[in-house]
Amino acid sequence: MAQVRFDHVYKTFNKVEVVHDISIDVKDKEFLVLVGPSGCGKSTCLRMIAGLEEPTEGEIYIGDRVVNGVDPKDRDIAMVFQNYALYPHMTVFDNMAFGLKLRHFPKDQIKKRVEEAAEILGLQPFLKRKPKELSGGQRQRVALGRAIVREAQVFLMDEPLSNLDAKLRVATRAEIIKLHQRIQTTMVYVTHDQVEAMTMGDRIAVLNGGVIQQLGAPQELYDHPANIFVAGFIGSPAMNFIPGAKVGTVDGRTSVILEGIGKVEVPQIYEERARAAADRNLTFGIRPVHLEDVNLVSANSNHGDIRSAIDASVDVVENLGNELQVYLTTGGKNIVATLDPRAHVTAGNKIRLFVDSDQIHLFDTDTGEAIF
Ligand SMILES: Nc1ncnc2c1ncn2[C@@H]1O[C@H](COP(=O)(O)OP(=O)(O)O)[C@@H](O)[C@H]1O
Ligand SMILES: [Mg+2]
Repeated sequence: MAQVRFDHVYKTFNKVEVVHDISIDVKDKEFLVLVGPSGCGKSTCLRMIAGLEEPTEGEIYIGDRVVNGVDPKDRDIAMVFQNYALYPHMTVFDNMAFGLKLRHFPKDQIKKRVEEAAEILGLQPFLKRKPKELSGGQRQRVALGRAIVREAQVFLMDEPLSNLDAKLRVATRAEIIKLHQRIQTTMVYVTHDQVEAMTMGDRIAVLNGGVIQQLGAPQELYDHPANIFVAGFIGSPAMNFIPGAKVGTVDGRTSVILEGIGKVEVPQIYEERARAAADRNLTFGIRPVHLEDVNLVSANSNHGDIRSAIDASVDVVENLGNELQVYLTTGGKNIVATLDPRAHVTAGNKIRLFVDSDQIHLFDTDTGEAIF
């Protein structure tokens, strides 16, 4: 068992900096997800833990030991890649045993570890098969098994589900979570998929352009994104952003005023911050699920009570049965709303949308930083 620590790590390839001043503490037994768009430096970070790349600057620790310069085989890590190439001529057993054989483990030890891993992964019936006689999901489990038998201190996974179809990806995702609960090993998991990050991580580090944007628990990132990048990256459909927002007073209440669109009351706890930011360029943010047809919300009151609403015209309505995915235009901006199926929306018509003002966000347009 071991923690993993990045201490002001930089990585430069041919004078191009791809990882910039990263400091992360992965706790013992934690499941940490590194998520970000393609090319943001995720694999480079993982490969630096594994020892396949060396940091240009800064230290990497596994446990209490600085591992800079330590050979990959002496780092006590196990890694699963996206392309988990199995040896096609070997059985499942031999594929899983291969790394241990290379390390001259005694035969009975190898057998014991492979059988245990096969049991955890439900692979016992397939131990004598060759990879081509397995489904994609089973092959992926063999790749996991190959890593489990190592009984390493740290488990590294680089987009291990990318080659699976959507349904299998969801199933295998759950298997990896169970696996972590069972083997209780520190895991660092890389993905570009924010749903994987949200569902799997104890904590998530969002990376963009080689820089950590935010590190926190999934709900923390969803509820309190630190900047526009994280706000737009976490959550699906993505948060709506409306630039040109003003902070002012409407009916004695601090409000975000969206010229020609509507107004939204600022929650009391954020009033001070909103007022202090009033002279900056501001962008308003609201998630699609936090919009609703005003008529449904105000069924028991009159419309005068709705202090937070925006007007929009409806472009497209997608009925998913349990909800409507509605594409709208407001103030020349495209937005999305996830509405109750009972909402009265028709393409081409106008709609007034209630805004759940407890769920609003405000950003500095120029720096991207969240005001609240
Ligand atoms: N060995 C290398 N030599 C030069 N550039 C590299 C090398 N490995 C990665 N890069 C570059 O570093 C950046 C980050 O790559 P990578 O860590 O693989 O991103 P991710 O895994 O997030 O998609 C990319 O621009 C990539 O082209
Ligand atoms: Mg990668």
